Amino acid sequence: MTKEKVNPNTVTGPFLGVIFGANGDLTKRKLIPALFSLARDGLLSRDFAILGVSLKEMTDQQYREKVASDMQELAPDLFTPELQQFFEERLYYLSGDFTTAETFGKLHARVETISKKHHTQGNAFFYLATAPGFFGPIVHSLGDAGFTRENENGWRRVIIEKPFGRDLTTARALNADIQSVLSEDQIYRIDHYLGKETVQNIAVLRFANGMFQPAWSNLFIDHVQISVTETLGVEHRGGYYDQAGALRDMVPNHIFQLLTLVGMEMPLSFGPEDMRNEQVKVLHAIHPPKPGDVASEVIRGQYAAGSLDGESRVAYCDEHAVDKKSTTETFVALKLQIENQRWAGVPFYLRTGKRLAKRLTEIVIAFKKPPFTPFRETAIDPLEPNQLIIRIQPNEGISMRFGTKVPGTLLKMDAVDMDFCYADHFGRTPATGYDRLLYDCLRGEATLFRRADMVEAGWRAVETVQEAWAADDRSLCSYPAGSWGPAEAEELLARDGRQWKVYE
Ligand SMILES: NC(=O)c1ccc[n+]([C@@H]2O[C@H](COP(=O)([O-])OP(=O)(O)OC[C@H]3O[C@@H](n4cnc5c(N)ncnc54)[C@H](OP(=O)(O)O)[C@@H]3O)[C@@H](O)[C@H]2O)c1
Repeated sequence: MTKEKVNPNTVTGPFLGVIFGANGDLTKRKLIPALFSLARDGLLSRDFAILGVSLKEMTDQQYREKVASDMQELAPDLFTPELQQFFEERLYYLSGDFTTAETFGKLHARVETISKKHHTQGNAFFYLATAPGFFGPIVHSLGDAGFTRENENGWRRVIIEKPFGRDLTTARALNADIQSVLSEDQIYRIDHYLGKETVQNIAVLRFANGMFQPAWSNLFIDHVQISVTETLGVEHRGGYYDQAGALRDMVPNHIFQLLTLVGMEMPLSFGPEDMRNEQVKVLHAIHPPKPGDVASEVIRGQYAAGSLDGESRVAYCDEHAVDKKSTTETFVALKLQIENQRWAGVPFYLRTGKRLAKRLTEIVIAFKKPPFTPFRETAIDPLEPNQLIIRIQPNEGISMRFGTKVPGTLLKMDAVDMDFCYADHFGRTPATGYDRLLYDCLRGEATLFRRADMVEAGWRAVETVQEAWAADDRSLCSYPAGSWGPAEAEELLARDGRQWKVYE
């Protein structure tokens, strides 16, 4: 669809995409715009079709009109007349309940007709954009209906959303359940963080630049901070969030993905198995807090009423669909150690929360101070140690913070930032991640998807925390909406002579 010449090797092969939950929020906000973005960039084969499945009664035409109105509202830049027509010719809808055999019978007939019409050559992905309770049942129904059988007539892949389990036991059970129908290489467990440009750039930064490699260990690094903070509250997802909480929602998945990219050894290649083998080793090396240390090393908080951007905000317990007496955490900060040769002795401080002062995802690599400096006799303030800041969002980029001499006769120093910003340099803002991940799935490239052992290792690393909280719920701290979280989270670092860093 793009006017630029497209390298035919980058265009996907023919396919049918079946989206379960096609009338839902994720499909509307992320999946459909991601497909438009791939078409705009000329990356989709002309031989494809999308079939949405959801409960609501709609005809194909009504679904196309809904998509058009959603696109106009949410991604008007992508909604050109050319792309609108391109998708109108390829969008279909089936109304049905995921839990009935009748739906899969009807699906069979529709898949057959649509695949023939669009020459999809038997290739199909099934995207489970549904509540997690449907993941297992839909996979079984797909298997029973013969959709998951791969042969010379094409590939079959299933994309599974998060959350993948609630803890180690449920994640193991879900893995076993879907692996009884699908082989591991047909399963694409999505973590949209991994589709983000800056996240992928962590590996490039580390492994393609000689200057960082020698410094990337406990010899030079003092500690690492990973912050994923949101200004949003629970919005319309209070029911889901109240059952999940900040730890489950963010730590074993998104935050650990960032942690593995920072912590992993150099893989033999960027291929899916080499990359994921190294990432999973980091997860296995995480030394979680001992049960007796959970209270002091893991801070859990919940927002009270406060104000943000000049507007007052209600307390978490007063949000829609949240239990008034809820003890679910909306904030968590923790200190972890990675026990291997490279990282022994370097604490990793992680924090995430809702209704905080700023929306940002940032990794700070804080370097050690030089063992000796010749400035003792001069009147300079002690300088901050060097820092490398990887900004995942917003304002995606990388900064280096270092000390420099302030111009003038007297010797004075100041910390300055050397900035690289994606949008300034490349003239375009990195995409949401879903487009990259859909594209990779269409090409059978699984590097940025989570393997079964990675998911389980992530849950294993937070198991003691989940168990300690389940046994004793009294540890909940409060913080006002619009702040940086509970004071206890500041103390977690202050005890070690450190503090949370925030860049803008
Ligand atoms: N929304 C996000 O931004 C986001 C981000 C990350 C991950 N996720 C994950 O993505 C998944 C989907 O989330 P969502 O926010 O899109 O949920 P959602 O808005 O509730 O959408 C799910 C859709 O499933 C349909 N549905 C429910 N029960 C059904 C049944 N028995 N048979 C057929 N259709 C049924 C509903 O369709 P009708 O409307 O037709 O009744 C609903 O629109 C969840 O696992 C969520 O955790 C979402």
